[in-house]
Amino acid sequence: MSASVLTAVAWPYANGPRHIGHVSGFGVPSDVFSRYMRMSGHRVLMVSGTDEHGTPISVQAEKEGLSVRALADKYNRVIAEDLQGLGLSYDLFTRTTTGNHYNVTQELFLAMWRNGYVVAKTGKGAISPSTGRTLPDRYIEGTCPICGYDGARGDQCDSCGNQLDPVDLKNPKSRINGETPKFVETEHLYLDLPQFIDSLGTWLQTRSEWRPNVLKFSQNLIGDLRPRAITRDLDWGIPIPLDGWRDQSMKRFYVWFDAVIGYFSASVEWARRSGNPDAWREFWTGDAQAYYFMGKDNIVFHSLIWPSLLLGNNGEGAGGGEPGGFGKLNLPTEVVSSEFLTMSGSKFSTSRGNVIYVTDFLRDFGPDALRYFIAAAGPENQDTDFTWEEFVRRTNFELANEWGNLVNRSISMAHKNVGAVPTPTAPTAADHELLETSRRAFGVVGENLRRSRFKAASSEAMRVVGAANRYLSDQEPWKLKDDPARRDTVLHTALQVVQDANTLLTPFLPHSAQKVHELLGGTGVWAAQPQITEVTDLDVPEREYPVLTGDYASEQARWESTPIEVGRPLAKPAPLFAKLDPELGETGPEWAPIVK
Ligand code: MF3
Ligand code: ZN
Repeated sequence: MSASVLTAVAWPYANGPRHIGHVSGFGVPSDVFSRYMRMSGHRVLMVSGTDEHGTPISVQAEKEGLSVRALADKYNRVIAEDLQGLGLSYDLFTRTTTGNHYNVTQELFLAMWRNGYVVAKTGKGAISPSTGRTLPDRYIEGTCPICGYDGARGDQCDSCGNQLDPVDLKNPKSRINGETPKFVETEHLYLDLPQFIDSLGTWLQTRSEWRPNVLKFSQNLIGDLRPRAITRDLDWGIPIPLDGWRDQSMKRFYVWFDAVIGYFSASVEWARRSGNPDAWREFWTGDAQAYYFMGKDNIVFHSLIWPSLLLGNNGEGAGGGEPGGFGKLNLPTEVVSSEFLTMSGSKFSTSRGNVIYVTDFLRDFGPDALRYFIAAAGPENQDTDFTWEEFVRRTNFELANEWGNLVNRSISMAHKNVGAVPTPTAPTAADHELLETSRRAFGVVGENLRRSRFKAASSEAMRVVGAANRYLSDQEPWKLKDDPARRDTVLHTALQVVQDANTLLTPFLPHSAQKVHELLGGTGVWAAQPQITEVTDLDVPEREYPVLTGDYASEQARWESTPIEVGRPLAKPAPLFAKLDPELGETGPEWAPIVK
């Protein structure tokens, strides 16, 4: 039995609809990976949800004139719809405002507290001198004390990647109104990160399969770890379950503290909803594997902070201790991070106005073209500029001309001449060679997908498609009217390779893979899709919310060459991918025009 796999997908802030930059970081990669893992026989649990606490939410709520809860409700639903439209196969996409998440967060915190990994300290907090209100870390900007970058934020420097405290910034300024914040004394709880330095170092040394940049980056930061505040002066967040803290309306856990715990709480919620409240153990203990997917600005939280919380819960820091009530929990197997998808050089940014929303994209171009673009041409190893020209090129030349055309001509000819999958006789060396090429691809593409090398995986899969197209041009079955036995052998071979290539492309193109399955005469679900269902909060019965879930166990797709069945009736195929007007590459769509 192969190991069970947890796919942990970064939690989008519930502060607006998703744009294609977001989903190129956490969304498409995690889904391609999960679909492949399921197809190759692993039991997979893919979880995430909307990240709904902290200042990103309260600032947007203020802008829209809504309460924080109403804002979170609004975008939780919008985001669930965006992700569902893309076909991201979550077992549970939930949110951080559930009763379950509150309980699990408090319980994990108490385990760390009891083990002595959390300390209370009085430190400096920023307030706005003009309003007297606390000023969130992210809304303070200044010069990084470590690398000198002058756009560093109060919580983090995007240039050197270090975690910061606002009080350390040189020339701090409020991003809300430009004033210089005032720092006042306030008591907070700190995670004592130095106690994890040794355990983190030893663990990271065993992670040699990670993308080298992620590993190096994380290893470089270990030595500088200092205690990190995990509470904030804020009324929107999870209360601190300690005497003297519990009832203070202005003390809450920091949003990043509760968000990373979401991976675990969502697994618990999934288990409770499945009818077996212990079912999460299969994915968090023993030899279960855990892969985390995110954009690069999230790396430290996943490679250092979250592992520290887990070590603290497990009693595995310098101070030792006992595992908390959930027992020992596994650390990440791999932290898979993407670089940024940019648009003409600037990171996708709602505030700068150059945004391509997922929902607009899906309406005009459908999910698979975007999924393919992100996997084949996305920011896997370096920042990558999104251009409409490249999108048109990939869609027209690779999806429509290469793949769509192979499907279309193979099935059309078989339909016209035989009306069904033809019977092969006396295969030639050319036939064997093509079949070998597609069979061998399962190993190569699969190994690339297992290692989250999506570009290499998709181009290997497309190589099979290219080989099949060349085979048809060489064999010219349309000229074999007088030799129906040979013609049928060629068509059978081509259809078998269409079946194989469709399997190889299923993780990338699950919607069209379902169509090809049906065009080949298949019935039932080949690649399952996520559904939105309305559920009642398990612990706060008056609350309801939408979740994404799916019945993926019943899908037929398997990571292997499945023989096509001779005699299966074939209908005349409709085109798989519509070609885009090349002008789109120059102008962009109406809703995201290219400004020259
Ligand atoms: N909401 C964060 C962001 O968009 C990501 C949170 S990931 C999790 O950058 F680890 F906290 F879950
Ligand atoms: Zn810096």
